[in-house]
Amino acid sequence: MSGSITFIASPTDANVQGDIQVPGDKSISHRTIMLGSLADGVTRVSGFLAGDDCIATMNAFRAMGVNIDGPDEDNNVTIQGVGIDGLKAPSTEINVGNSGTSIRLLAGILAGQSFSSKMLGDASLNKRPMQRVVAPLTLMGADISASEAGTPPVVVNGEQPLQGIDYDLPMASAQVKSAVLLAGLFAKGRTQVTEPGVTRDHTERMLKAFGYAIEVEDNKVSLQGGGRLTACDIQVPGDISSATFFIIAGLIATQGSIILRNVGLNPTRIGVLNIVAKMGGRVERFNERLVGAEPVADLRVYASDLVGIDIDQADVPLAIDEFPAIFIAAACAQGTTTLRNAKELRVKESDRIQSMADGLTTLGIDCRVVDDGIDIIGGKLTGGTISSHHDHRIAMAFAISSLRASDTITILECENVATSFPTFVELANSVGLSIEKQQVNK
Ligand code: S3P
Repeated sequence: MSGSITFIASPTDANVQGDIQVPGDKSISHRTIMLGSLADGVTRVSGFLAGDDCIATMNAFRAMGVNIDGPDEDNNVTIQGVGIDGLKAPSTEINVGNSGTSIRLLAGILAGQSFSSKMLGDASLNKRPMQRVVAPLTLMGADISASEAGTPPVVVNGEQPLQGIDYDLPMASAQVKSAVLLAGLFAKGRTQVTEPGVTRDHTERMLKAFGYAIEVEDNKVSLQGGGRLTACDIQVPGDISSATFFIIAGLIATQGSIILRNVGLNPTRIGVLNIVAKMGGRVERFNERLVGAEPVADLRVYASDLVGIDIDQADVPLAIDEFPAIFIAAACAQGTTTLRNAKELRVKESDRIQSMADGLTTLGIDCRVVDDGIDIIGGKLTGGTISSHHDHRIAMAFAISSLRASDTITILECENVATSFPTFVELANSVGLSIEKQQVNK
């Protein structure tokens, strides 16, 4: 029996209190499996995100002959690396569910294999653009294709020798950058990627941690193919994208504060902190430290009076996954918040500009949608029924908005919250929200 999940988020006294830790970073967790599988030796991972997306990556590598134990109840994973040339042909097609990171990064790895493969996903992923990885990988010599619409399935005919390329990314995308760099491991010569804007650099940091030489200069990243990776131990920090729901909840609350422990603060991911600081939000960082290759800190978030701002273009790629929650902050702020140059939001797990605009309008907030962004005029939120469009971050954003709503918010299609944040409802209720999860059988 297939089912769906509805969140019933009831109004509260908007007082939040808590000292919590969010689960491990999704982007980093995916990459531990990929690089750990391709490395020589045993990689031990702690703090792994046991969400559906990262499990999809794990299962893909298991299907290619890699022995992976875990995640255990403490989120430890052990990967028996098979070496750069050790993957085996999967016996069936690879289904990565809802996970864009799995399909796009894997495309880079599969392009360099001696076997053929086919990848696809769920209804949402099967609508997302794949040409952005197919195009550069084809330039490298791969025999790879997507559907006529440029969507999954992605089919790779193996045994095509790859050649390094010098590629200018047409959009700021860490997934495309990573796909090209990962294919570059299997290519002859040097592979270089130039980014139009700063995007998350977890692939670069982790390649270095696995002993692979990689050069980063300004907005150019390059590596020489044909090297090997050496297994290492990795502690995955808490995901700032998951922490964001609690940062925004803490800020829009009318009283209280929330402490968030062990949050990854990689400079390519902290757009949300830059944006809320400009909106007048009070977030303190303490215990700043380096955990392996990644900067980490604890955060204390205080209830704040927010004001609308024009969001800086430079912060857009640094906060790309955080906009659903930031839009809720904008709805609770005084004045208008303006976002532009954010067209990429239209090709996420849903069209996040339209999904958020529809939901905010239902809750009585005025907004104006443009092609590459939105204007949101702060106001008073009512209750209502919202479609999350099966998008985990839309679901969680509207769940936290209930802190400031005058009536109950019912959020439909919330099952994909499990892709990135399986414990979201329990943690949210522990800091003072009131969210009930209802199973809806179809
Ligand atoms: C990710 C990159 C981003 C982000 C996604 C994870 C990654 O996607 O939205 O959630 O792990 O590399 P794009 O590369 O499409 O911007």
